[in-house]
Amino acid sequence: MKIITILGARPQFIKAGSVSREISKCKDINEIIVHTGQHYDVNMSDIFFDEMKIPKPNYFLGIGGKSHGAMTGQMIEKIEEVILKEQPDWILVYGDTNSTLAGAIVASKLHIKLVHVEAGLRSFNMRMPEEVNRILTDRVSQILCCPTNTAIQNLKNEGYENFDCKIVKSGDVMQDGAIFYKNLAVKPSCKISDKYVLSTIHRAENTDNLNRLNSIVKSLNEVNKNRQVILPLHPRTKKILEKNNIKTNFTIIDPVGYLEMIWLIDNCDLVMTDSGGLQKEAFFFKKPCITLRDETEWVELIENRFNVLVGADKDKILHAYNNYIFSDKFDINLYGGGKASKNIVVELLEF
Ligand code: UD1
Ligand code: UDP
Repeated sequence: MKIITILGARPQFIKAGSVSREISKCKDINEIIVHTGQHYDVNMSDIFFDEMKIPKPNYFLGIGGKSHGAMTGQMIEKIEEVILKEQPDWILVYGDTNSTLAGAIVASKLHIKLVHVEAGLRSFNMRMPEEVNRILTDRVSQILCCPTNTAIQNLKNEGYENFDCKIVKSGDVMQDGAIFYKNLAVKPSCKISDKYVLSTIHRAENTDNLNRLNSIVKSLNEVNKNRQVILPLHPRTKKILEKNNIKTNFTIIDPVGYLEMIWLIDNCDLVMTDSGGLQKEAFFFKKPCITLRDETEWVELIENRFNVLVGADKDKILHAYNNYIFSDKFDINLYGGGKASKNIVVELLEF
């Protein structure tokens, strides 16, 4: 069986770290990796391939740093060329980025079977590019690998049981990675206090709205007076902070590789983020999380009080920081327990 995996952005490399390792154990599957180039800095891309021993991409399309339309359109064109040449049995896509959507569209036009890892997630906010990407991708997939019960229920609510596709509760591939790489974690070289908050900000809804971005930065400046805030800075956010001369007084570091990142998560007291993946990783490493968004796809974290949604309002952020009572009952299986990659490979072989 020949599978073409489409990767392009940081969280996809991390997810592929676990699934590609599982695929490589299976003699019956030949995986060919296509890197769209959506993320291209060394510490946003190559570092993950090196650290997680993901096979080097067979194709690198070099399409990054463009508008949504240009990026997605050019990816579709180039991925189609690869697929026509390679004639795979399956296309494998992860998550909800523009690279995911481009792979899904090519699969549907060329009638190649599509497997979507992280299917069924919904924020119900159609202004998010990710929400549109994941809905369109789900609709043309033959296997929908859902990380959670909520994701399965979302698909059922949208009538997917009547569609020609297979809905699978695979569990969450990021949990596989968190378990596998935990013992390989590496302490970053920056100055790190005993107690610190780990933060990331990169979502368009925060970076492209200066009121929201200013309010989040002011909140982190305030938190930093009480406890060190360490923030590995996404290049998107870096450019906008610099362009608008927004002042920060917390510890900003360059984006780190996954091994340093899991060290930072494992040793922090609290996570404050707008990242999807990091919200779950906080839970995997038994850390509370304040989410700087108005909604989340990972609703089970909110329901169980491991995570609180505060948006970008400074008062709400600081109120949650000072007062929110998080649950510490982390021993609950919300994401499948680390067998998602195995489950996905079994589904592919049995389909
Ligand atoms: C993308 C995904 C988002 C995901 C995030 C993970 C979409 C629509 N969004 O957002 O869901 O959470 O990746 O990090 O696909 N840049 C660099 N170097 C890089 C990568 C990006 O400088 O290696 C800069 C470029 O100026 C680029 C900007 O960041 O224009 C945004 O990158 P892009 O891939 O368009 O979106 P992300 O914000 O990274
Ligand atoms: N991450 C990382 N280095 C960083 C910041 C994040 O390795 O400097 C990891 C993080 O631990 C998680 C993944 O990147 O595994 C999440 O990606 P991101 O926040 O970019 O995207 P999202 O999950 O929001 O789509």
